[in-house]
Amino acid sequence: MITFYEKDRVFKLDTPHTSYLIGIVDEENFIGHIYYGKRLKESEASYLMRTGEPPFVPSQNNRERCSFHDCFPFEYPTGGLGDYRESCFSIRTPGGHVGSMLAYVSHEIIAGKPLLAGLPATFGSEQECTTLRIVCEDKYIGMQVELLYTVFADNDAITRSVKVINTGKEAFYLTKVLSACLDMDYRDYEMISLHGSWARERHIQRKALGYGIQSVSSYRGESSHQDHPFLALVDKNTTQEHGEVYAMNFVYSGNFRAQAEVSQFDLVRMSMGIHPEHFCWKLEAGESFQAPEVVMVYTDQGLDAMTGTFHKLYKKHLIRGEYKDKKRPILINNWEATYFDFNTEKLLSIAKEASKLGIEMLVMDDGWFGKRSSDNCALGDWKVNEEKINGGLKYLVDEVNKLGMKFGIWFEPEMISPDSDLYRAHPDWAIAIPNRPATESRQQYVLDLSRKEVVDYIYEMVANVLRSANIEYVKWDMNRQLSDLGSLSLPADRQGELYHRYVLAVYEMQGRLVKEFPHLLLENCSGGGARFDPGMLYFSPQIWCSDDTDPIERLEIQEGTALIYPLSTMGAHVSDCPNHTVGRVTPFETRGIVALAGTFGYELDVTKIPQEDRDMIPAQVAMYHKYNDLVREGDYYRIASCAQNHKFDCWQVVSEDKQQSLVTYVQVLNRANFKSKRILLKGLEVDTRYQVQFVNDEKVEPKVYSGDTLMKAGLLVPNPWGDFRSVLIELKAV
Ligand code: DGJ
Repeated sequence: MITFYEKDRVFKLDTPHTSYLIGIVDEENFIGHIYYGKRLKESEASYLMRTGEPPFVPSQNNRERCSFHDCFPFEYPTGGLGDYRESCFSIRTPGGHVGSMLAYVSHEIIAGKPLLAGLPATFGSEQECTTLRIVCEDKYIGMQVELLYTVFADNDAITRSVKVINTGKEAFYLTKVLSACLDMDYRDYEMISLHGSWARERHIQRKALGYGIQSVSSYRGESSHQDHPFLALVDKNTTQEHGEVYAMNFVYSGNFRAQAEVSQFDLVRMSMGIHPEHFCWKLEAGESFQAPEVVMVYTDQGLDAMTGTFHKLYKKHLIRGEYKDKKRPILINNWEATYFDFNTEKLLSIAKEASKLGIEMLVMDDGWFGKRSSDNCALGDWKVNEEKINGGLKYLVDEVNKLGMKFGIWFEPEMISPDSDLYRAHPDWAIAIPNRPATESRQQYVLDLSRKEVVDYIYEMVANVLRSANIEYVKWDMNRQLSDLGSLSLPADRQGELYHRYVLAVYEMQGRLVKEFPHLLLENCSGGGARFDPGMLYFSPQIWCSDDTDPIERLEIQEGTALIYPLSTMGAHVSDCPNHTVGRVTPFETRGIVALAGTFGYELDVTKIPQEDRDMIPAQVAMYHKYNDLVREGDYYRIASCAQNHKFDCWQVVSEDKQQSLVTYVQVLNRANFKSKRILLKGLEVDTRYQVQFVNDEKVEPKVYSGDTLMKAGLLVPNPWGDFRSVLIELKAV
């Protein structure tokens, strides 16, 4: 619900458990942030903007206007006029000046949620959500800025975005347009962010917030392995179950910056948006720029509650398409099985064996097109290599279909190899700086998707392959980050638009793809999980989580990913041992149990793995079919983190009706002479009695306990014998 209190000039945005208050102050109509936190009954907290204490508002004390600008809690801070904290917005006027200030002009409260032109965003019907649009202006520049806020009837998240309109007569340049800001009082916060590298994505980092600026960011052209478009400020006592959390997550897949600044007055400014580095967007008179959406979550119930809010929002109001709420086919991908060394016979032999074991789809990974026999060449030549795929693609797909399996295929549409027919024909289609040798990465360049002819050509190449056979799944990969930013089609003063235009074009291509092929299951991927973000989730219900398939490494990666994203989105496969990335040998059972927390599939040569591993597959397949509805749709809780305790990991999912639950416990190294572990379960019904069954340990007798006992007193999990062992526990209401 959103209400405007006209007399007090206060907007009150209410979600089921939170309130967000915005105020308009003084004759100049400054827009201030009043409050974000637990739901308030009244709208009377505008004193929190401290306009009644020195330096007072400019109408009362204009000689200290600069001091006012420097401490007022701006709802959307612009810079250059005396607010010395880092702003969210910056402009270069035709005269080369940078200062700007926004004043309230008007507002409207709308049922539903408007689309954001060209961008992925959360959505909801007129019954499900309400939107506030505040129109502000800088009359000296000739510019309007619209601040957009949406609240959902069934969710505690608030979404925000910003649109800038040039209402003047001359073009100006936007050099910074962040999407969200929170100016708040500092309360001994810590910041939580997600960091990583290739094969080590989204590890949780928590550290104290100090004076000055602290940020996480990417200007790699994608959300990246290294940092993640997520930031949470939490009370230093916040745990999984208790305490305050202010979180932001960016619905965008390109450069970003998430930042917190603690100022001289112990005020904190938290912000998120497109990274201003290398960003410069020319806005002609009459044109507008739409910045992407930020999702904000506040809770005083700890990290589990934050996670629950994100998961529910994304499941219901972001992810789309046929597979949104559906069990995904169990796939087998040939990447770790064969790398580039495969042909029709090899793929069919894998498919034949896999189909006998209950696997439902074969995915042909990198290497099926052009002259691609290694990662040195042929990106852009999206024509089947009939020397490898002898008999042609349709033949292969038909044969796989005859086995009762679906067929999926890999593409890397955004790339071009210097050694490719495409590059030989169109060297100017690669992003590069003129008269400077372009920097290669994995021996490839990035296509200049700001050019419509490039997008159209590549789209048609990809779509033609999909039109040629019964292909039901696409893995859309992206294996290098952007550098050498230069487009031959953009004038000098628009080169700073390339990063963002690139992301918009990726969205456009994926939008076209899912429209033309509505039954396609799309899985995004970027050298593992470098583009695992809400922007991509708008197009694909699942994203490959990491190239590291070792189940022990995956614990930390999946814990960090699941902090924000539903388990249904996490691409997770069982692979062979020794693991190809870390060389670790783990039980096949544990590999299956860890992959069960994601989309579940295989990435191995099923004709070559040990017989005892192969024999376990039908039972794993059955387990997937038995538990996937629960894993996909249930509420997720973090019980223990091996990243913190270095001993064991534990998580739980509980069905919405609380009648069923699945607990996964993974031991890292076994240690001598220890007792069983006591774990406190979550999310159960206090008065319901549950039968507790150790699914993969028949020695432990099923017992019945109440939800109350299991949550307060806990459950004992016997120490499994051996390293990297795992335990699956099913709870059923009796
Ligand atoms: C990176 C992906 O993450 C892998 O799964 C695989 O598809 C390779 N690219 C292929 O080049």
